[in-house]
Amino acid sequence: MNVKTLFLNNKAMEEVGVLDMASTIRDVEKVYRLFDSGDVISPGKCVLRWGKTPEDENVYGRINAMPGFIAGEFDMAGIKWIGSGPMNYKKGLPRASVTVILNDPETKLPVCFADGTEVSTMRTGASGGVAIKLLSREDASVMTICGAGAQAPTQFEAAKIARPGIKKLYIYDIRPENAERFAGKVREKYPDVEAIATGDIESAARDSDIIDCVTLASEPFIKGEWLKKGSLVMNMADYEVDRDCVRRADKIVCDFWESIKHRMISTVALMWRDGLVKDEDIHAELGQILNGKKSGRENENEIIYFNAVGAGILDIAITARCYKKAIEKGIGTNLDFWE
Ligand SMILES: NC(=O)c1ccc[n+]([C@@H]2O[C@H](COP(=O)([O-])OP(=O)(O)OC[C@H]3O[C@@H](n4cnc5c(N)ncnc54)[C@H](O)[C@@H]3O)[C@@H](O)[C@H]2O)c1
Repeated sequence: MNVKTLFLNNKAMEEVGVLDMASTIRDVEKVYRLFDSGDVISPGKCVLRWGKTPEDENVYGRINAMPGFIAGEFDMAGIKWIGSGPMNYKKGLPRASVTVILNDPETKLPVCFADGTEVSTMRTGASGGVAIKLLSREDASVMTICGAGAQAPTQFEAAKIARPGIKKLYIYDIRPENAERFAGKVREKYPDVEAIATGDIESAARDSDIIDCVTLASEPFIKGEWLKKGSLVMNMADYEVDRDCVRRADKIVCDFWESIKHRMISTVALMWRDGLVKDEDIHAELGQILNGKKSGRENENEIIYFNAVGAGILDIAITARCYKKAIEKGIGTNLDFWE
C-alpha cells in the first residue's frame, strides 16, 4: 500500500494563490454562510497555553489546535495548528507560525501538509474586510489600525477592498518603529492614502469611522467615550477596547459567538461572564447577516462593536482552495505518507 500526501511550503502556497485577497474574502464569506446553515463541524479551539493565567499567554505563548470539517464546494476536513511565540521578535522570527493539515473527509487520511502562516493572516484580514463591508458606513474614509504587526497589512488590504474610499489611516503601536514602518509601506502601496503613525490614540480614535485592533495588549486602551457616531470598532484580538465600547454599541456582532465565550478573553466575552452582556444582546453573527437572517448596518449613526475569534474552518477552506490548485498545476512536493 502506498499513500501519498502533498507538502506545500510558503513558496508553493504563494504560487497557488494564497495571497489573492479577493478570493480569500469570497472563501471566508462562504464559510460564514455554511457555518450559519449548519454545514460545518467546528468543535472549537484547544489551547495549549504556557503560563498560569490567560493573560500570561501573550508573554509565554501558546499553540492552538483548531480542527474542522467544511461541506459545500470545499468538502474538506483538517486542522490548523498555530504556534504563537510573543518573544520571537527578539530572535528575528514572526510571532505566529501555522501548519494546516488537510484530511480527506471520507477516508480521514491526511492529503496535504501546508504552511498556513499566510493563510492565517489572509483569512483574518478577509474576516475584518467582511465585517467592514457589512458593518461600517458606506462612506467610511478614516480608519485606525492598532497594532502594526503581521495582521496589519491584510487588515488594511481587505478594508480597502470593502471600502475603497478610505483616505486616511492612523497607525498606533506600542512600538512606534513598527507603526512608522507600516505607515511607510502603506504610503508606497496606496498613494491615495494618508498614512499617519501616531502615539495619540485618543485623537485617532475620535476621528475614525473604523477602529481595527490587532495588538497583543493585555489592558484596554480604546475608550468608549471616544467613539464617534456611526463608527465601527473591531476587536480582532483580545483586550484593546474597554467595556464602554460594548455598552455604547447599538449592535454587537461577532464571527462565532459560542467560540468567543469558550475562549473567554475578549471584552464582550468577559462582560458576558460577568453578567453584563446576555446571549440575546448579540445582534448577529456574520453568517446570519450574509444569509439575510439579520441586518447589518441600518443607518449612518449607529455604533457597532465587532469581535472575531476566528476558526480553523476558515483556514481549512482557503488551504483546500490552494491544495486543489496545486493538484491541478502539479505544484508542491509529494511525500510518501505510507510506503
Ligand atoms: N481574530 C482572529 O481570527 C485572529 C487571527 C490572527 C491573529 N489574531 C490576533 O491579532 C493580534 C495580533 O496578531 P499579529 O500576528 O499581528 O501579532 P504581531 O506580534 O505580529 O503584532 C502585534 C503588534 O501589536 C503591537 N502591540 C503589542 N502590544 C500592544 C499594545 N499594548 N498597544 C499597542 N500595540 C501593541 C506589537 O508591537 C506588534 O507590532 C494577536 O492578539 C492575535 O491573537 C486574531
